[in-house]
Amino acid sequence: MEFITYEQEGFVGVVTINRPKALNALNSQVLDELEATFDAIDLDTTRAVVLTGAGEKSFVAGADIGEMSTLTKAEGEAFGKKGNDVFRKIETFPIPVIAAINGFALGGGCEISMSCDIRICSENAVFGQPEAGLGITPGFGGTQRLARLVGAGMAKQMIYTARNIKADEAYRIGLVNAVYPLEELLPAAKKMAAGIAANAPIAVRNCKKAINDGLQVDMDTAIVIEEKLFGDCFETEDQKAGMGNFLEKDKEKKLKVVPFQNK
Ligand code: CAA
Repeated sequence: MEFITYEQEGFVGVVTINRPKALNALNSQVLDELEATFDAIDLDTTRAVVLTGAGEKSFVAGADIGEMSTLTKAEGEAFGKKGNDVFRKIETFPIPVIAAINGFALGGGCEISMSCDIRICSENAVFGQPEAGLGITPGFGGTQRLARLVGAGMAKQMIYTARNIKADEAYRIGLVNAVYPLEELLPAAKKMAAGIAANAPIAVRNCKKAINDGLQVDMDTAIVIEEKLFGDCFETEDQKAGMGNFLEKDKEKKLKVVPFQNK
């Protein structure tokens, strides 16, 4: 791998996009490497993933403008599909993915963060969908996910005006859950990931699936999705151990860490 690094810390995987010469912009190779990295994550030993960018200036400064500049209509559509396929893989990845946004998150950078389950950012983060100023639409899911996350009105304003917003505004409109000083961002993301990893992994996966799948359908169908995933949990050792521990009269045992299963 040239542009992606992967590290494992306990149950937490950290994926770093590292293409400093282009502020971590996403060209085809970066997208291929990202896909291969997520494909290679061992889901038996990993319970949450942190996705970040290398350096102190940029998370991801977008799709690679140089690569896109000469594309034909068909190639443009194929490039959009390439990015969308990788981002959809992240969005539907069985375990939670936290975006730790350490600077510019523009175009494809904002879009990849929106395919993650949770976004937190540094104080120097800048978000935006500058595509309309480049003569294109957002192409890696921005028109769809931004509207779902911050509402159609705010998404349309950001996309039509191509105006960037800073971390405090991203927080205000609900695009990110929290803002940290840069040096505290990655530790905070890892801490959150470890907190997720400390819970029952099958239950966490089912929560992600219930939320994601439920958002795509009407409420009556969504509730049935939850019922099935809720019911599935009662076949797990985690449910027996987790509830058994709670019901223990012995306070020590009640607080004991449950040896959660991962399958
Ligand atoms: N693609 C390719 N290269 C990029 C890039 C991108 N998206 N963003 C930055 N770079 C490159 C620059 O060309 C420059 O390379 P050179 O040193 O070889 O000239 C290097 O990264 C550093 O960038 P700057 O000198 O521009 O740094 P800056 O601090 O002056 O500005 C910036 C930073 C405001 C982020 C500016 O680089 C910028 O505006 N980048 C483009 C952002 C953008 O428009 N992103 C959306 C792309 S379109 C898209 O993503 C479509 C989609 O939805 C799929």
